[in-house]
Amino acid sequence: DTPLLVDRYGRVARDLRVSITTACSLRCTYCMPAEGLPLVPRDELMTPEEIGRLVGIGVRDLGLRDIRFTGGEPLMRRDLEQIIGAARTAADEGIAAAGATGERVRIAMTSNALGLDKRVDALVAAGLDRVNVSLDTVDRQAFATLTRRDRLDDVLTGIRAALAAGLAPVKINAVLLPETLAGAADLLAWAVEHDCRLRFIEEMPLDADGQWTRGDVVSAADLLDVLGRRFTLTPAGREDPSAPAEEWLVDGGPATVGVIASVTRSFCGACDRTRLTAEGTVRSCLFGNEETDLKSLLRAGATDEEVSDAWRAAMWAKPRAHGSDAPDLAADAFADTVRSMGAIGG
Ligand code: GTP
Ligand code: 5AD
Ligand code: SF4
Repeated sequence: DTPLLVDRYGRVARDLRVSITTACSLRCTYCMPAEGLPLVPRDELMTPEEIGRLVGIGVRDLGLRDIRFTGGEPLMRRDLEQIIGAARTAADEGIAAAGATGERVRIAMTSNALGLDKRVDALVAAGLDRVNVSLDTVDRQAFATLTRRDRLDDVLTGIRAALAAGLAPVKINAVLLPETLAGAADLLAWAVEHDCRLRFIEEMPLDADGQWTRGDVVSAADLLDVLGRRFTLTPAGREDPSAPAEEWLVDGGPATVGVIASVTRSFCGACDRTRLTAEGTVRSCLFGNEETDLKSLLRAGATDEEVSDAWRAAMWAKPRAHGSDAPDLAADAFADTVRSMGAIGG
């Protein structure tokens, strides 16, 4: 029997998010300061071999079945193809060793798609199954202001390349801000036309500048108001119970639009995620500041069993909720997360 990654509230982690860099080619205001985040020194980053070893342990011994690479921007790693390849090999071997034949680990990444066109074929060959692309608006001026870089066309090129390489479904993530709201209907029209599944995300307090306030959050309700003026939306529920997005059919379907309402309708109760930072520490939650350093264990020669024990202990301590949805929690963890989004990977 596989001892799963369970926490003391009975949630089971099946989905691993691995941040592999804090570097990025954009500077989205809700994620990074203008100068970028401090870079992790190269020898503190996990190597492809270390990532493969942790993925193998996670799949074989801990029941993980979905792996997603995030950043920063994963494409900033020149060895991303090796990372995906190491994860694919380890995941397939892990499935075989766990006797879970017939199951397949899905490997995905969340990316801004800049430069994806040049690498997507090699990434698919290495074992990548899916990509989610961050894109908040298709208005060139608004895009340039939000990301502090005038590169909308390059992002659209990257998305088209992902579709051409067969990485369907491509999901698009748009963080809800006043600027996004203004262009939300145009963005949805673009996504429908290009067969992408658009999800809007309520902004979480993980902006590097600490400007977030609850009162300023553009909510799912605000968005549905705006989209409802141009489209007919019919509630379609969640893809699966632990999926962060609630979905609506657009004009009767099959196109959908989703909302990830982390602030106004939080979904911590069904969370199935565990996270690794670029430095190789486990984070049990986006908002849990406790981290357990697995990379140091690996480098000190720990056995697989010692690593999985440490991973399980870290997850056992996962907080129940982040605060906004649990008025009984003494502290609102939302208020004091020390790492910004670009350093956790969303
Ligand atoms: P799919 O499996 O394709 O649906 O991916 P995903 O939505 O799980 O991943 P993605 O990286 O595209 O994340 C979309 C948004 O959901 C980001 O803003 C994430 O920060 C947010 N998100 C993902 N997991 C969690 C979580 O555990 N808690 C909270 N609050 N937000 C999350
Ligand atoms: N709040 C919500 N989502 C965010 N993202 C980045 N910063 C924030 C934030 N403060 C999103 C990005 C990316 C995903 C991993 O997280 O759009 O798609
Ligand atoms: Fe880069 Fe993504 Fe952060 Fe934007 S949200 S700065 S694309 S890591």
